[in-house]
Parts: sequence; structure tokens; C-alpha cells
Amino acid sequence: MKITVVGAGHVGLVTGACFAELGHTVLCVDNDLERVKGLQAARIPFYEPRLQVLVTENASRGRLRFDSDLAAGVRHGRVIFIAVGTPPKPDGSADLSTVGKVVRSIGRAMLSHRLIVEKSTVPVETGRWLKRVLRGSAPRGVPFDVASNPEFLREGSAVRDFLEPDRIVVGVESARARRLLEELYKPFRAKLLVTDIGSAELIKHASNAFLSTKISFINAVGELCGQVGADVRQVAAGMGLDPRIGPAFLNAGIGFGGFCFPKDLEAFIHIAKRRGVDPKLLKAVQGINRRMPELFVGKIRKALGGLRGRTIGLLGLAFKPDTDDMRFAPAISIVRALRKGGARVRAYDPQAMTEAGPLLPGVLLAPDPYRLAEGCDCLALITEWNEFKELDFRRIKRAMRRAVLADGRNLYDPAQIRRFGFRYVGMGNGADA
Ligand SMILES: NC(=O)c1ccc[n+]([C@@H]2O[C@H](COP(=O)([O-])OP(=O)(O)OC[C@H]3O[C@@H](n4cnc5c(N)ncnc54)[C@H](O)[C@@H]3O)[C@@H](O)[C@H]2O)c1
Repeated sequence: MKITVVGAGHVGLVTGACFAELGHTVLCVDNDLERVKGLQAARIPFYEPRLQVLVTENASRGRLRFDSDLAAGVRHGRVIFIAVGTPPKPDGSADLSTVGKVVRSIGRAMLSHRLIVEKSTVPVETGRWLKRVLRGSAPRGVPFDVASNPEFLREGSAVRDFLEPDRIVVGVESARARRLLEELYKPFRAKLLVTDIGSAELIKHASNAFLSTKISFINAVGELCGQVGADVRQVAAGMGLDPRIGPAFLNAGIGFGGFCFPKDLEAFIHIAKRRGVDPKLLKAVQGINRRMPELFVGKIRKALGGLRGRTIGLLGLAFKPDTDDMRFAPAISIVRALRKGGARVRAYDPQAMTEAGPLLPGVLLAPDPYRLAEGCDCLALITEWNEFKELDFRRIKRAMRRAVLADGRNLYDPAQIRRFGFRYVGMGNGADA
């Protein structure tokens, strides 16, 4: 099938490359000329495992092309996926201006039937609005369909998640749209759930809100564990054995970040309020998450007897491992709080330093964990990269001024870290009481 993907970012580029891998002919359109030029030379604009190989191979086979001309994209693809950003507006609602602009331009360029698919995360009722936009912009008599196909991939395992999803959700309201999407997703083994458009839109927001709730829930439990000397990891293990709960997303730590959970939760709260539904639960989830960086910094302050004049080294900056994405990363508010308290901050991340540099002015970036540790009063683990699991803590301790380890992800065994001579600070794993 001929497919067009508008927006060659974390979702769009993976979508385009994976559909090309499955044998489709894909044109990815992006309005960032530098990005398009880079992609035409097989340069991937962000770090994502396996993506480089997929893009290079499919581009060389002629199945994956890149362009900045949206009209060319509309001529090419019978199915057009919209995968542009939907960032938060100052009032918390999703900014749909790019989606609207793209869909208006698609309408103007359409000469025959096109299926326009929302892949970006959008609030419920967006599909209805897009139909109105298309009706107003497409030439009279040119047929079109709108569908919703929310994306559940996770950065860091995006290619695998796309090619081996748990489920595929498509929201449609015509037999033609359903047929095209069923054909496209035929090679996938996952269950294909076909719903109406509004329900598909809600499935995405509700899923992200639920996962955020699990994280804030265990963080709240962790806070109590810290007060009574219990271990939140043991509590989570016990809870997770119940199949109704499950073990995923029960890792207490400094809270969630990234381009999805914080903004999707915020947009979900906003749409609920607009429709007169009280988003009390979601607001509590958000409130707990917003407090986590401050709570973590408070623990560091307590362990060091104050922050002024101390040097803190951050192990990791990206919002999670295996990505260089710094959007809404907890590291940003942690750095702000540490510096506000008068601390000097240094950092090392295996992939995210280029992204992080401009966001964290005044933070000295070190080339590896051992150089990072030099002269530090405390090392704070922010991102649980694999390479941090097996550090040489004897060498690290020798390089530090004071041996304090603040483990923001409960990655380490506290007893083992203490055996190396560190003071260990965790997130509710029996260490704070
Ligand atoms: N990142 C994730 O893990 C993830 C997962 C699921 C869903 N989503 C959702 O997918 C959407 C995209 O997220 P992302 O992380 O891929 O964003 P991104 O910022 O990585 O990519 C967006 C791309 O769209 C391009 N773009 C912007 N305006 C354009 C225009 N007018 N015409 C053509 N291209 C344009 C940008 O240049 C960029 O390349 C969002 O709604 C997000 O919530 C993201």
C-alpha cells in the first residue's frame, strides 16, 4: 500500500520505517528542512535503538522516502497518518494547531479519496473537528475518511513495540476506512480492536492516565514506606503478584516525565473539566508526580546537611533509559531545585547530553560516571541506564569528596552500596526512617 506519514519524529519516523519494513511504500513528510535533508542521507535526528538500520535498509530499497512537500505526500499515500506534535498549551489543553494546519493543507491538496488517520495523541472529539476541517478545505465531491489509530509505542523500544504491539486500536466510522486499516494491519499478530473514533481517542488518554496513576500510587506508598522503614520494592512485589494488579509500573522513584504522560494527563484533565466531569483522581495523580523531584531533593539536602556549596553529580538525564529525549524530564526540575538550594550540579548521560546541554545551562557535563564523581558530595541516580547497574563503586568512592548515593530509581541494593562505604538514600526502600 502507498502510505504517507506527516511528521518524521519519534512516532512518525518509527511508523514510516516499520510500515516500509513490512513492504509498503512510504513517504514521510516533515516541514523541518534540516531534518528531511538529514533523513535523506539516513541521519536519524534522535537516538532510538534499531531505527538507524531500519531507515537505512528501507531507504536503499526505495520503500522509504522523505520530503518536505505535503502536497507530494497527499498525492502519494492513499492512507495518510498524522504524527505531528500535540504539545500542551499554557492552560493544559492539547495544542492542536499543527494537526489542524496539516489537515487543512491535506484537504486542499486532495484530488481523490484519502483516509486521514490521527496517530498523534489527541483529545476525544478531535476526529469530529477534523472532519469539519476537511469538509471546509477539500474540493467539493472529493471523498475522504477520518480514523483514529492511537500509538502505544514507548521510546527506547519503539521499533519492537510498533512491530510487536500488545494491541492495535482503530477508531473508524465507515466500512472503507475499516477495510483499509484492517488490510494494513493484517500482518500483525496482535489483537485489532475496532471502535468508534471517540472511543479510540479516549483509549489512548485513559491508558496513559491509568499508567500515570499506577506510578503515582506506588510513589505515594513509597513515601509512607520511607516514614515507617518498610521497603516499597517488597510491597510492590507482593502487590504485583495479584494478576488484577500486575507488576508493571510499580517502581517507586522520582516520578514520570517525557513527552507523553505529563501532557496527556494534563490534556485529559482539561477535556474532562470542559465536559463537566470532575477530574479529582487525575489531579491527585498529577499533584503527587509534581512533588516527587522536590521530595528527592529534600532527601539529598537532609543527607548532606544542606545544599549550599555542595556538588551533586547526576547519573542520567533522559526521562528514561534508551532514549535521548529530555522533554519534561524530571532531571530538569531536579537541577532547578538543587541549584536553587545553592548546590553546584554536574551530570553525565550516555545519550542525552547533546539534548540536555541547552536545557541545563550552568550544569557541567562529564564524559563518564567516574569523571562525574570527581569532587562530588553526592551522586544522584536519575535515569536507570544499564551501564549504571555495574559501576565500580570503589573507584567512584575514591573520586568523591563525600560518599553519598541518592538512588532516584531504587536501582541499587542499599545493603551492597553501604558495604562500599556509601550513605545510601532511596525512594521508600526502608532507608529513610
Ligand atoms: N514520543 C512518544 O513516545 C509517543 C508515543 C505515543 C504517541 N505519541 C504522540 O505522537 C505525537 C508525536 O509525538 P513525537 O514524540 O513523535 O513528536 P516529535 O516532536 O518527535 O515529532 C513531531 C514531528 O512533526 C514535525 N512537524 C511539525 N509540524 C509539522 C508540519 N506542519 N508538517 C509536517 N511535519 C511537522 C516535526 O518537525 C517533528 O519531526 C504526539 O501527539 C505524541 O503525544 C508520542
